[in-house]
Amino acid sequence: MSKTIDRKTFLSYLGTGATALAAASAGLGVLDGKASAMSATANHLFGFKTNRVSGYFDPIEASTEDKLILPKNFKYDVVAAFDDIINKEGERFGSGCDYNAFFPINGSNVRGLLVNNHEYSTIFSIGPIVGDKMTADQLHKNLYYQGMSVIEIFRDEKGTWQMDINSSYARRINGYTKFDLTGPAKGITALKGATTAVGTFANCSGGVTLWNTVLSCEENFAETAAASSLTDTHYGWVVEIDPFDKTYLKKHTALGRFNHENTAMGVAADGRVVVYMGDDKKDACVYKFVSKDKYKESLGRGNAVLLEEGTLYVANLKSGKWMPVTLEAVQKALKDKPEQLKKFQSQGDVVTYCQEAALLVGGTPTDRPEDIEISPFDNTVFICHTNNDNHGNIHGHITRIFEAGNDLGALEFDFEIFAAGGRQSGFSSPDNLAFDSNGHLWVVTDISSSSQNKGVHKSFMNNGLFVIPTSGPDQGKALQFASGPVECELTGPFFTPDEQTLFLSVQHPGENTKDLNNPTSTWPHRQGDKMARCAVVAVSGFKLSN
Ligand code: FEO
Ligand code: CA
Ligand code: CA
Ligand code: CA
Repeated sequence: MSKTIDRKTFLSYLGTGATALAAASAGLGVLDGKASAMSATANHLFGFKTNRVSGYFDPIEASTEDKLILPKNFKYDVVAAFDDIINKEGERFGSGCDYNAFFPINGSNVRGLLVNNHEYSTIFSIGPIVGDKMTADQLHKNLYYQGMSVIEIFRDEKGTWQMDINSSYARRINGYTKFDLTGPAKGITALKGATTAVGTFANCSGGVTLWNTVLSCEENFAETAAASSLTDTHYGWVVEIDPFDKTYLKKHTALGRFNHENTAMGVAADGRVVVYMGDDKKDACVYKFVSKDKYKESLGRGNAVLLEEGTLYVANLKSGKWMPVTLEAVQKALKDKPEQLKKFQSQGDVVTYCQEAALLVGGTPTDRPEDIEISPFDNTVFICHTNNDNHGNIHGHITRIFEAGNDLGALEFDFEIFAAGGRQSGFSSPDNLAFDSNGHLWVVTDISSSSQNKGVHKSFMNNGLFVIPTSGPDQGKALQFASGPVECELTGPFFTPDEQTLFLSVQHPGENTKDLNNPTSTWPHRQGDKMARCAVVAVSGFKLSN
């Protein structure tokens, strides 16, 4: 195996060192003059040939086994599984694990806080629903087990990752937790005048802010809100929590209300904060929020006010323009339709009924935009369009956006289809994304449990984790790194800073189970346990890049 070039090497190759690292992550365009991402392929950005990813792991084959399969010499530890006790108060880990974010404690790569999203209830967390109505106990569990967990984890002397339930930080955030509302929809009539909202649920993916808090996304919130007779408009927002501060809980309405998948934060060339977001619904749009004011590193968490005021844009893929989702634009679009306009009296109404407003102002309906990541190397933006059977996009694709001038604050862009799902690539229905320091994309798939191992999905077998280089000779090729247990989807890939550990969620193994005595999966196969459990695992075995 020849030497792989990691991000640090790449930056020193450019002769710019640590300053460049800081500037590149702040999106200040240090790559200008060296290279431009606006070229057809952006390959030359690196100025070198990326090694085959298979140089550092042997890709695995697709599988139908009820196992989490990894390449040889890799292993996983179950860090936390559904219903595990997480702290001294006896609070329990939630259901439907999705997004993960790791926060080192005192700079450690082997002890830190792990924030995990709990997206939804399963038959294993609330039991079978008889008829269409949940019992009072099921309604309680449905709110309790969704939301988020903050847990403290560490790697012991034997190299095994585990939870520290004596942690003073470990806690649950769930359908009962109170949040402060911020932004244009705070206190408006459409939210019944509320300035706070009780509960978060349907927390899918998310993102880490530049000031080290977590943004967590309320995705398919409608069912839970309706079942518990909660005010629908209090959900479908992006929430912000600080893993180290229990008292800090916000819902930022300026980022719009829709079926939020994720956030990906960067900085525009002029210093404003930019947040890319997907709306995971068939024929829904891709958004970006640009703050009014500029990011100042010295303000730390004080920068969070940037998420309270700014402009929300929606992508028009035909003109290559970001269209403002503003009251003014909606009024213009509806100037001959006063009846329809009644719904939109303020910017608060526009963000609350965002999906409708976005289409009115020219947003392009797309094929279920899921996770989005900004390349730390060249500011191109990768979007998983997972699939859309409304018009025959069965296997989905990964779209790559090139912002004008490599500026995340630009109002014009071009795009390409970076990789397409299907037989030729070996993956179907891409969902969450993460970058490693070699510029490779780690992509998990979400073929629905009802489609897995059938029809045109047969050859893909169980859902998996794939690695796709974004430059070099293997650009766009998918190499399989993991295969999940029966009827699961793998979610929330997140590396420790030293990239020696990858956290990954195993969501809804055994999802098609109808009878708890006869589960379709029993992963993680705990002794004496006849149920499948959603869980977070820590994967280790990564070699240092040189
Ligand atoms: Fe919760 Fe769009 O996946
Ligand atoms: Ca997802
Ligand atoms: Ca991601
Ligand atoms: Ca999905």
